[in-house]
Amino acid sequence: LFSGRIEFIKSAPSLKFLPDPDVPEIAFAGRSNVGKSSLLNALTGRKSIARTSVTPGRTQELNFFEVGDPTVMQLVDMPGYGFAKAPPAVTEQWRKLVRDFLRGRVVLKRVLLLIDARHGIKDVDNDMMRMLDEAAVGYRVVLTKADKIKAEELEKVTAETIAAARKRTAAYPEVLVTSSEKKMGIEELRAAVLADSEI
Ligand code: GTP
Ligand code: MG
Repeated sequence: LFSGRIEFIKSAPSLKFLPDPDVPEIAFAGRSNVGKSSLLNALTGRKSIARTSVTPGRTQELNFFEVGDPTVMQLVDMPGYGFAKAPPAVTEQWRKLVRDFLRGRVVLKRVLLLIDARHGIKDVDNDMMRMLDEAAVGYRVVLTKADKIKAEELEKVTAETIAAARKRTAAYPEVLVTSSEKKMGIEELRAAVLADSEI
């Protein structure tokens, strides 16, 4: 499926621009620069279907991608959070957009919550998990940039992340370990996305 048709369809700066809720959706969430757009590219085997950036906070809208011909699911690249230089008005706008999307989107099957393997779960990630819990949206925790740390560090952060996920109601207990750069954990991620979309 992921090697077939993938098409960027729209960028929604607010809820009134959302595409019709016709197919199951899986969304990618996480701190700015955690690697959401890169992982979406790796998942679909494309170099740049989702725009990646060295500048944190570049993606400020919900970006929708159709998968399959005919379309059987949509992937959503969510705007990142925890951007240090973000003015309060931007943070507030982000919060409203994300909260309303999570609460109101009936076709949203799962969120992939990305955590940088070098940093582990931060306060802003706990805030995000709280929003997901409150919206009753199930999520999987996905460690990113696994290529950037040593094997023993990766083992430690994975164990800590699993322990943290187990404490939360809406979180899957398993944690996926990935590297978009080294194409690590991508097959497992594809299987998880397929299972979550239930198609
Ligand atoms: P925002 O849209 O700003 O929230 O960022 P994002 O989460 O979409 O991150 P993006 O995919 O744009 O990646 C940010 C930076 O991290 C880029 O410079 C990527 O090349 C780099 N990056 C992403 N994934 C990996 C990875 O698996 N390994 C390494 N080494 N670098 C990565
Ligand atoms: Mg992005």
